[in-house]
Amino acid sequence: MKRSLTRDDVVRLDKAHVWHPYTPVDVWEKTDPIVVARAEGSSLYDANGTRYIDGNSSWWVAALGHGHPRLLRVLREQAEQLDHCALAGIAHEPSSALAEELVRVTPPGLNRVFYTDNGSTSIEVAVKASLQTWQHLGAPKKTRFIALDGAYHGDTLAASSLGGVEVFRRPFASVHFECIRAPFPDDGAYERAFDAIRDVIVREHDTIAAVVVEPLLQGSAGMRTYDAAYLRALRDVTREHDVLLVVDEVFTGYGRTGAMWACDHAGITPDIMCIGKVFSSIIPMGATLVTDRVYDSFRGASDRALWYGHTFCGNPIGAALAREVLAIYEEEAVVAQARAKAPRITAAFERIRAIPGVARVRSLGMTGAADLEPAWAGRAGTTSGTSYLGQIGWRVYEEARRRGAYLRPLGDTVYVCPPLVISDADLDALLDILEQSVRAALV
Ligand SMILES: Cc1ncc(COP(=O)(O)O)c(C=O)c1O
Repeated sequence: MKRSLTRDDVVRLDKAHVWHPYTPVDVWEKTDPIVVARAEGSSLYDANGTRYIDGNSSWWVAALGHGHPRLLRVLREQAEQLDHCALAGIAHEPSSALAEELVRVTPPGLNRVFYTDNGSTSIEVAVKASLQTWQHLGAPKKTRFIALDGAYHGDTLAASSLGGVEVFRRPFASVHFECIRAPFPDDGAYERAFDAIRDVIVREHDTIAAVVVEPLLQGSAGMRTYDAAYLRALRDVTREHDVLLVVDEVFTGYGRTGAMWACDHAGITPDIMCIGKVFSSIIPMGATLVTDRVYDSFRGASDRALWYGHTFCGNPIGAALAREVLAIYEEEAVVAQARAKAPRITAAFERIRAIPGVARVRSLGMTGAADLEPAWAGRAGTTSGTSYLGQIGWRVYEEARRRGAYLRPLGDTVYVCPPLVISDADLDALLDILEQSVRAALV
């Protein structure tokens, strides 16, 4: 591809015209950005030649690394064969074959696949399908949703109504639908948190459509983990009181937590499961899988369509990529290989735990996170709030950048979420950089 812009031109045009996600505009305009020109494996390359280890898999997507030759080949071949066509009134091989494969690899009982554009819209589908299901089943009062403190399910309006990260939801509170907020099942306290959610379900199940959770690991809230026993108990109580359980595997799916699906740790099948990100890896696409009970409720009347569908629903290129992702996972035993690497992350975070100013660490599968104490950072002269708006993580980011890693923080929480296929050498280098950067940021 012809490149005509210099690195400086890219920055100039960007600052003149591009609006960046989750980025305060005043801060951005003063930033000297990384300018990525290409990516390969676990590395991002700046236009000036600097290499960065991709410490967050480019927003939790590149589990198979960048530029995987099999994905690039499928992208090319599928584009030449059938680039796009509607899925309304049409079937095509990539979407049919993918659906069969997804049903085979997801928890048993999820037999039907609705294709979406990304993670957020897979949640929109879950919300709308839940509401329609209860109407069809003669329980139209079941319209309310329960989600956890700190939940993040995406940025479209229904998805953000479920969200529990205060700074993200506050500007939109006036148009969000009501969401019952349940306490996060924090380490050592999940029984108490479970009692609270169980009490609401028992008392109000007549008006509750679904409980929506990120299974075992809340990403955006700061890589917060919880016990599989909570998820199992939640499955039992939702089943007992006829409330749907929606599990958002957009981040946790595809081996991130050490099992193909985080649900597998608990051995449960939800009523609805949402997936995205690694799903199609190169282009945006996601899916919402449902049980026969949900799908079958749509039978029996001509107005019982799921009134939902985006232009690119079931796009053949996305579907072909998603099939190839699953084939690579199976043939290259990606999850088992990642599981073997995960102890390196746990060991590194144990070392990081000992650094003065580190409040708390945790790891699960191929993620690890450390909360840095704002008070400590304050002593070091930074202005710090708490959590997402905190600044100390950004000092770690700058230190890591100087050392050759891209480690975007979640406020005062720093974390790694590298490609599952990262080499041992690159993983060790990334973890060393993080450790050194935390030390440097907290002096
Ligand atoms: C758990 C979870 N759900 C949903 C989403 C939204 O996905 P997308 O950004 O593809 O819309 C995200 C994105 O980070 C996520 O982490």
